[in-house]
Amino acid sequence: MRSWIPFLLASMLFLMATGHVRAKSAAAQGHASDAQSIHRGRTVFNSNCAHCHGEDAAADDSYYNLPQLLSDRKDAFFFHTVTNGMASKGMPAWRGILNHRQMADVLAFIRSIEKDQGITGD
Ligand code: HEC
Repeated sequence: MRSWIPFLLASMLFLMATGHVRAKSAAAQGHASDAQSIHRGRTVFNSNCAHCHGEDAAADDSYYNLPQLLSDRKDAFFFHTVTNGMASKGMPAWRGILNHRQMADVLAFIRSIEKDQGITGD
């Protein structure tokens, strides 16, 4: 009768331990892919956007400083503006030049700067 108690305890411990390990590795993977996205976004940014919006998006002129401009904007605004440009202001359209993932990487890069500077709007 008592012989199954250690077995039960052992299985509970096993389940807790494996559940914990799984939760931890999922979080670690999430952070790793965020970091990769930010890294890729920085490269895309510096080769396509930096000559107007500043190296590493750090334009001194607030008219061009994207972390400041975008802090209270939705992601959808970013995708819309980058895809279509703003012809009247001289912002080029990137449709057909950057794909959605490259734009998402650039956005991840800009959001990471907003976070570092504590200016996230959402
Ligand atoms: C030839 C110069 C130029 C290049 C290159 C350029 N932009 Fe712009 N961008 C502008 C101008 C000018 C504006 C209008 C500034 C404003 O509204 O404050 C603008 C505005 C924007 C805005 C809207 C900001 C807001 O809140 O009004 C976004 C988003 C943006 N650019 C993203 C990008 C991204 C991403 C790239 C690179 C893929 C890029 N731009 C490349 C000139 C440029």
